[in-house]
Amino acid sequence: MSKQYRVVALPGEGIGPEIMSVALLVLDCAARLHNFSVQINWALIGPPALAACGSALPQETGQLCRKSDGIVFGAVSQGGLLELRKQFDLFANLRLVRPSPFLFHCSPLKTEQLQNVDILFVRELVSGIYFGPSGRGMDSNGEYGYHTMQYYDWEIRRIAKVALRQAHYRRGLLTVAHKENALPHIPWSQLVAEEALMFPNVIVEYMLVDNLAMQLVMQPQHFDVILAGNLFGDILSDIGGALVGSVGLLGSASLNEDGFGLYEPIHGTAADLAGKGIANPLGMINSIVMMLQQWEEQAAANLILQAQDQLLSQGARYSIVIPGPAPTSLTSCSPLSRIFAAMRAKSPFSQRALLGFIDVSGFISTPVRLNE
Ligand code: IPM
Ligand code: MG
Repeated sequence: MSKQYRVVALPGEGIGPEIMSVALLVLDCAARLHNFSVQINWALIGPPALAACGSALPQETGQLCRKSDGIVFGAVSQGGLLELRKQFDLFANLRLVRPSPFLFHCSPLKTEQLQNVDILFVRELVSGIYFGPSGRGMDSNGEYGYHTMQYYDWEIRRIAKVALRQAHYRRGLLTVAHKENALPHIPWSQLVAEEALMFPNVIVEYMLVDNLAMQLVMQPQHFDVILAGNLFGDILSDIGGALVGSVGLLGSASLNEDGFGLYEPIHGTAADLAGKGIANPLGMINSIVMMLQQWEEQAAANLILQAQDQLLSQGARYSIVIPGPAPTSLTSCSPLSRIFAAMRAKSPFSQRALLGFIDVSGFISTPVRLNE
């Protein structure tokens, strides 16, 4: 009997629902070609959930997610997402930045600066300033608000291990983003250095996050894996969107210790583009590719990547910041599925793996093959 996966689809709002439906059609095509099936359960999150059930993360949504093999998430403007990340302890957020040669001209950087750029952001996702003590108050100076950056050492150590393991299987360089000249009580450098003793073949460098932001733009080819806390990782990874030419292209995986994950594009709701049939689904599709890789359905993942390359090489363009005319629209699944069918007749295997299965709990136990 063929394998069946259960997925919860949380389209959210803005362009979320439209990119989600295209991406799920693509997933279905890839599954049929590789003899597995995917059962989709749709559920509510964010403002649509609040309007329908009075909660941005309804209990039914959480329960469905608990019974699933993965969550695919579109976009929300507020509410639900941070709670979901916390509820499932999705502490390891991976964002891969690999500019496509077919889109070099869309990036503000020169082509020679983009060649072979291949950066993996590893962002801590369930702690730091997003989740520290916060509130509003009033004292003799007036009303004020506060959000507190707080990290347990073990939270830094566990995300450091994920980043080190990735660097071990990639090119062996880990850059740690920190701001210890202003925030000395959160010692990322020391804690990562201690964990790095177990990874003797990984070179670890420590960079102040402001300098790192500049270096990312000046010399992106320098970087391999970048480790950052929640807020810094959020900001730095959007620079990745500029490098590839559009934030609409980037997907992400957010994983817990069991390897269970939520897969979402890194862009937001793009409400101004919603409902016009011009939204770019590739960030969502690339997130689904990461889910397939996490399931070790590598052949299906490669098929989608190959189809994507083929479309981009033919001049397919989408909205969300990619300029130029739109000779092929990707907001319909049909160009992709035609290419799947054609490719099926040839070889379904591509050499362009994105990520392998990520063992977030074990110690270099899984033979992850990256950068093939
Ligand atoms: C992201 C987003 C979210 C974040 C927002 C929507 C809360 O910007 O996933 O990068 O800051 O984590
Ligand atoms: Mg962001």
